[in-house]
Amino acid sequence: MMNLDSINSPVKLNNGLTIPVVGYGTFRTPADVTEQAVSNALKVGYRHIDASTDYGNEQAVGRAIHHSGIDRKDLFVTSKLPNDQRGYDSTKKMVQKSLDNLGLDYLDLYLIHWPATPAHYGDQADQVNADTWRALEELYHAGKVRSIGVSNFLPHHMETLLKTATVVPAVDQIEVHPGWPQADTVKYLQNHQITVEAWGPLGGKGATVLTNSTLQAIGAKYGKSNAQVALRWILQQGIIPLPKSVHEDRLRQNMDIFDFQLTTEEMTTISQLHDLGGQCADPDAYVFWKPED
Ligand SMILES: NC(=O)c1ccc[n+]([C@@H]2O[C@H](COP(=O)([O-])OP(=O)(O)OC[C@H]3O[C@@H](n4cnc5c(N)ncnc54)[C@H](OP(=O)(O)O)[C@@H]3O)[C@@H](O)[C@H]2O)c1
Repeated sequence: MMNLDSINSPVKLNNGLTIPVVGYGTFRTPADVTEQAVSNALKVGYRHIDASTDYGNEQAVGRAIHHSGIDRKDLFVTSKLPNDQRGYDSTKKMVQKSLDNLGLDYLDLYLIHWPATPAHYGDQADQVNADTWRALEELYHAGKVRSIGVSNFLPHHMETLLKTATVVPAVDQIEVHPGWPQADTVKYLQNHQITVEAWGPLGGKGATVLTNSTLQAIGAKYGKSNAQVALRWILQQGIIPLPKSVHEDRLRQNMDIFDFQLTTEEMTTISQLHDLGGQCADPDAYVFWKPED
């Protein structure tokens, strides 16, 4: 069980590095409000920032980090490989691009954002993932990236990657929210000592997690909102949630999840909810998000 005292309680990764138990998401935050949003997140106490080159706002994330005056060693910064840039050479270039965008000389975590799949790469998909990973392993050994991982990898993608990997991914960042628990994948990853991060922990844009009546009834017992119940349900499964908000009151609310505990029965009830929206993405069929979407 993870130590659950605050959003910055340290979780040990399989390489010994620690990561704060709650991260701050930056997807769909427009570039012109990102600097302020990330500055607010850092001001209220978030120290783990989840960025991506594909979000189009990495430079603004970097400006917020620099203006915060927070020691680099006290921050945990993640970025991800753009979906149209894969393979050995491109991966090396893209990690440097993230470092330049963020104005950093190392990243705490870098992820393959989505697996290369036959839908996009035909019979080259497995080789593309292996070549991408080999580049990340070299960057990891060179200290440019302190931990390396993947995102949206299902067990079968992981099994294939592990055939050639010499470093086991530290993290798999997957979609997890009430209505989309992905229990089998979570169990597989945790059995392999791969830390699970939950993207879209509130269901993302337009989901009904925030208005669902079952979550409301559970939250009423503890004086908590649906968002807080959803985040707590994720934490109690040993998963790191990455909630995003551009509103300071919600940023604070999403931190206030350490003074209550869901019962085993409530955990099960929430795990059995379904049809609450969210992307419920199938990584094997996923059409990559583009900035204009
Ligand atoms: N690896 C991947 O493929 C992948 C994919 C998607 C996302 N991610 C990562 O995961 C992070 C989180 O996912 P997400 O941004 O899609 O969605 P999310 O965190 O599940 O949901 C955010 C939505 O809920 C609202 N919200 C936040 N806190 C709230 C609260 N306490 N009460 C009511 N509403 C609240 C936000 O709106 P306001 O901002 O208006 O408050 C936003 O519209 C992303 O930002 C990104 O870093 C990764």
